[in-house]
Amino acid sequence: MSETKLRVLISAEQIQNRIRELGEKISRDYPTGNLHMIAILKGAVFFMTDLARAMKRDVFMDFMGISTYGKGKTSSGEVKVTKDLDISLEGADVLIVEDIVDSGVTLNYLMHVLDQRKPHSIRIAALLDKPERRLRPVHVSYVGFEIPDEFVVGYGLDYGEKYRNLRDICVLEESATPPKA
Ligand code: IMP
Ligand code: MG
Repeated sequence: MSETKLRVLISAEQIQNRIRELGEKISRDYPTGNLHMIAILKGAVFFMTDLARAMKRDVFMDFMGISTYGKGKTSSGEVKVTKDLDISLEGADVLIVEDIVDSGVTLNYLMHVLDQRKPHSIRIAALLDKPERRLRPVHVSYVGFEIPDEFVVGYGLDYGEKYRNLRDICVLEESATPPKA
């Protein structure tokens, strides 16, 4: 028998406070120019919409779909674009907005893809970072929270498409119940 339990790791209030700080910092770092925020579907949508509203300047918003092949294959770098951008990036300051950086395979690939579209600059904002899990180098300019190597859900993050709409970020715990003697 096993039971699934959710333990709050980062509360909704902590998330919103941190996003407000990030929005102010990013706005200061980009006083001028066209800033294109690109959310990676679907997990980063919540972070993108809150971060965009925390910005003190105008921004463009776009979305990109990426699929990474089964866990066994992600480390081989097999990544595919499933939904491309609507807006050209030429000459723009690009901010990739991601829910979590884990192995780094997805973002390492995406940086190469978007770099070929002649933006003025590219940086990454990730709400969560699990640095212990990194397989590919990725420089994340704006990190919300560094977290330990635990599987988390909520605020966009899913387990089998479930739990995305939780307001808090929670650790999904499989607690094995020992059989009664
Ligand atoms: P990676 O950095 O290429 O390994 O992949 C990052 C993606 O894996 C994220 O965008 C999430 O979709 C997913 N992911 C990684 N860790 C977690 C987690 O703890 N919970 C839910 N999804 C995760
Ligand atoms: Mg994702």
